[in-house]
Amino acid sequence: MKITVCGTGYVGLVTGVCLAEIGHDVVCLDTDEQKINLLQSGICPIYEPGLEELLSKQLLAKRLHFSTDAKQAYKHAEVIFLAVGTPEKEDGAADLTYIQQAAETMAQHITSHKIIVTKSTVPIGTNDQLQAMFDRRGISVDVVSNPEFLREGSGIYDTFHGDRIVIGSNNKAAMEKVEKIFQPLQIPIVHMSICSAEMVKYASNTFLATKISFINEIARLCDYTGANVEDVALGMGMDSRIGTPFLKAGIGFGGSCFPKDTKALENVASLYGYEFQILRSVIQVNEKQKSLLFEKAINRMGTVEGKDVAVLGLSFKPNTDDIRDAPSIPLIDELVGAGAHVRVFDPIASKHVKKRYRDLIHFSDTIENAITQADLVCIVTEWAEIKEFPLDNYNRMMREPLVIDGRNCYKLEEAERSDMTYISIGRRVVERKTPILRY
Ligand SMILES: NC(=O)c1ccc[n+]([C@@H]2O[C@H](COP(=O)([O-])OP(=O)(O)OC[C@H]3O[C@@H](n4cnc5c(N)ncnc54)[C@H](O)[C@@H]3O)[C@@H](O)[C@H]2O)c1
Repeated sequence: MKITVCGTGYVGLVTGVCLAEIGHDVVCLDTDEQKINLLQSGICPIYEPGLEELLSKQLLAKRLHFSTDAKQAYKHAEVIFLAVGTPEKEDGAADLTYIQQAAETMAQHITSHKIIVTKSTVPIGTNDQLQAMFDRRGISVDVVSNPEFLREGSGIYDTFHGDRIVIGSNNKAAMEKVEKIFQPLQIPIVHMSICSAEMVKYASNTFLATKISFINEIARLCDYTGANVEDVALGMGMDSRIGTPFLKAGIGFGGSCFPKDTKALENVASLYGYEFQILRSVIQVNEKQKSLLFEKAINRMGTVEGKDVAVLGLSFKPNTDDIRDAPSIPLIDELVGAGAHVRVFDPIASKHVKKRYRDLIHFSDTIENAITQADLVCIVTEWAEIKEFPLDNYNRMMREPLVIDGRNCYKLEEAERSDMTYISIGRRVVERKTPILRY
């Protein structure tokens, strides 16, 4: 089928490339010329495992094209996928500016019937408003909701192995046409009304965020009571009604979706005069959680002023370069604000943080460079190289081996064997036994 994808970010680019891979003829449209130039030459502007290889393959097969020319791109399409960003406004509501701009451009260029499939996460009612806008202007389109559930870092895998595809439409023919696009993926498809589909996306993300905030609250109680949050999560998760995913205690959720989607749904509720109490708490717990590593550092050291502190991991989770709402940022801000000398390491994401801090912090190319002669190491993102970094090296290379691990990367027994002070989340503190000798 002839498809145009509007927006080539994490969702639009993965969608476009994967739709080409299953045989469709795809044009990816973006307003960002620099991005389109890179993509045309086979360079992937984002880090997403496996994406660049598929991109090159589909460019070569000529099933995938990139353009900034909206007129041509919309002329090409039978079906248009809408995948522009819906960031957070100051009041927490979803900012629909990009959606409105994209819809306006479509309205200007659409000259024959199209199906518009919204992948962007939009507040309940948005797709009906889009449909009404096109109807008012006499433009023949059917708007369909198809929320996206891929996870950054495994976007390609998730597209081919998703748990479900949700199609929300009030028009049977449009629904069937969109279903046909996805048929080669052999993923279960569920049909529903447009507003139910919009709600599925928010309900799913806010539920997963709830699990995270819940286990983080349990971890705080574990710190008080001496229980071990990992054992608790294991015991809970083995109950098939609960399940283990998203029961990993840490320093809170970040990224481009959970923080904004929780707030956007709370905002939707408030528009109806409804106070979504659980969601309020989920957001508040997460805000509090972001300061946890800094609190633990101050509790242990009294002050970090003048101390050398290494922060390992910047992206909001491993296998992505996305730093939107990453917990590393408030931690670095707090450390810098308190007078620490901060060095950071991330295998991919440093370039996105450089503009923010310039020479306020030091960017290290290796973990070793970041931790050498450090007084404190804070582990923020559980990249494989960080998780697998031998604990003994901290002991050898740091001024004092004090590691505060926001992702529970190591077993407590390993920390004991390495004879270091190891503070993690919801687990007992491992104290170094050998006194530090100062000369
Ligand atoms: N990132 C994720 O993991 C993820 C997962 C599921 C759903 N979502 C949702 O998908 C949507 C897109 O998210 P993203 O992370 O891919 O965003 P993004 O910011 O990475 O990409 C958006 C792209 O849209 C382009 N764009 C903006 N206005 C345009 C226009 N008028 N015409 C053409 N292109 C335009 C931008 O230049 C940018 O390249 C959001 O609503 C998000 O909530 C994201």
